[in-house]
Amino acid sequence: MLGIILLGPPGAGKGTQAKKISDEFAIPQISTGDMLREAVNNGTEMGKKAKSFMDQGGLVPDEVVIGIVKDRLQAKDCDKGFILDGFPRTIPQAQALDRVTNDLKKEIRVVLSLEVDEKELMERLCGRRTCAGCKAMYHVTFNPPKAEGKCDKCGTALMQRDDDKEETIKARLVNYKKMTEPLLQYYKGTGKIRSVMATGDIGRIYANIANILR
Ligand code: AP5
Ligand code: MG
Ligand code: ZN
Repeated sequence: MLGIILLGPPGAGKGTQAKKISDEFAIPQISTGDMLREAVNNGTEMGKKAKSFMDQGGLVPDEVVIGIVKDRLQAKDCDKGFILDGFPRTIPQAQALDRVTNDLKKEIRVVLSLEVDEKELMERLCGRRTCAGCKAMYHVTFNPPKAEGKCDKCGTALMQRDDDKEETIKARLVNYKKMTEPLLQYYKGTGKIRSVMATGDIGRIYANIANILR
């Protein structure tokens, strides 16, 4: 059972690295951000509620995200492991995850803490583009697609996320510091935390992660 938590500020590369881990280790990426954005796009009740928090760069209430993750972890494809990308994000979420994994007889083996200089985060998020089709991630300067505005893998048009505006990014970074950074301390006590320098070449960062996981 390879249960992994990816911890790190907005723009640290959680999504980028989660996709690589998922491909090689054949375990699903569970991104609460992606799931919430899907609910917003589908106009569900939950999506409508979540949208106002997300647009402000705030966190969606704990009970909502805890419910989503609890359901998702029970799916068959999580039997061999899973990558939590963007969850937990608060101490109550971490405590709830402890209870849920215990109940479902699943185990978090490692917490990877992605470390990036704060000034680089803004640049990464302002230039991020995502494929509306297959969700592949790009950056206009750091990881550009071969043809401008088009996905290399499926040819679909690339989009910019609604919350990747300077003001909203600032709020996300403030909330990260206040609500999520304390989790580093929470997990230090478990001996499961490993820090990963997450600046520089994406492939090299992944190679370090894969080494830890192997
Ligand atoms: P979420 O979608 O999780 O956003 P986030 O945490 O702000 O993180 P990002 O997805 O922006 O960054 P990332 O670390 O995945 O980086 P990426 O790989 O894309 O959450 C969105 C919102 O949903 C939250 O604000 C909140 O409202 C809500 N939410 C979600 N989960 C919640 C929870 N548990 N509780 C409550 N609310 C929740 O990379 C970023 C860019 O950098 C890309 O363009 C990429 O190409 C580039 N890049 C990646 N690596 C490198 C590198 N090494 N060098 C240069 N560029 C790089
Ligand atoms: Mg992400
Ligand atoms: Zn695509």
